Amino acid sequence: MRLISVNRCQPGEKLAKPIYTSTGTTLIGAGVSLTQKMLDRLKELQITSIYIEDKWTSDIVVKDAISEDTRREAMTVITTAFQSFQAEPGKWRQLFVNQQVAKQFRQVMGSVIDEMKQNRTALNLLGSVCVVDHYIFSHSFHVALYTTSLGMKLGWGERELIEVGMGAMLHDVGKMAIPLDILMKPGRLTEQEYDLVKRHTEYGFELLRKQEELSLLIAHCAYQHHERCDGSGYPRQLKEQEIHPYAKMLAVCDVFDALTTHRSYRQAMLPHTAMELLMSGAGKLFHEEFVCAFRDTIALYPIGLTVQLSTGEEGVVVDYNRGAPSRPVVRVLKDPSGRAVAVPYEIDLSKHLNVMITSCDLFA
Ligand SMILES: [Fe+2]
Repeated sequence: MRLISVNRCQPGEKLAKPIYTSTGTTLIGAGVSLTQKMLDRLKELQITSIYIEDKWTSDIVVKDAISEDTRREAMTVITTAFQSFQAEPGKWRQLFVNQQVAKQFRQVMGSVIDEMKQNRTALNLLGSVCVVDHYIFSHSFHVALYTTSLGMKLGWGERELIEVGMGAMLHDVGKMAIPLDILMKPGRLTEQEYDLVKRHTEYGFELLRKQEELSLLIAHCAYQHHERCDGSGYPRQLKEQEIHPYAKMLAVCDVFDALTTHRSYRQAMLPHTAMELLMSGAGKLFHEEFVCAFRDTIALYPIGLTVQLSTGEEGVVVDYNRGAPSRPVVRVLKDPSGRAVAVPYEIDLSKHLNVMITSCDLFA
């Protein structure tokens, strides 16, 4: 299978991975031949890339980081908690205690950690194609996966992983106190609106610190995740030493997921471009050790991605190189003149340092 832009997909191509709705039911199953109507619908739903079957890449199987069951369970826990608050803010306090939401969050984080421990490959969330009707929910889940992966890379223990994962799932909960029309506004926010959105850090902190079931550090994840090491963040302009490591970790994962997700007002960036941006802020905005460790946990060039090489050849990423994340193995399918090669061949970029990836047009 290979990952392609929906815009480049032709009717008749076969879907290699199912597309799910946000509740976990299948919208289009694997193996279905796509029609123009389906492709139009996918664009309407703002799905930008999909996996298709391709005779040259039929041996490539891209596994999701997390099982479908765990993903669905996590999304349900997050959505229920967030929506309950939006519906009845006054009842939030009871919510955690009576409905044992804290316990559910802890359980789901336990499953996430177990699965990620078994499946220690570079994290690629581009491929988990799912209709997103509310950005905050999927973002909260993705940030939890990224922080878990980063925490594991740093050798953190189970207790810390669960705590920071829960902090990640709840870091933006204060956004439920912001009017939806501002939160979902497609264009640029006015200064006043932006000031209001920034307050989600304080709202989240106030909300979470009252939950006896949750550690106070989880509330601080919400409070501090927009602080930056040089003091340029908000709400309190804390500096490097004053920011809790969980929040510094969240800052990296939060920004990375925001950059690599397609939004109505902005194209998504590919992982390697987003990573370059984070690296440029390492030591200044972001804690350097965390940015560097994070780079090693994610797939900079996800398997199945179509790339152009400096030689003019075009191919598909078929394998990672553990020690050299920016130098994957590429299977060449087209020669420099754009013609399909008779027999595809592979170039290991970690062994051919003179060959570079020049572009990948996933979102074209
Ligand atoms: Fe936030």
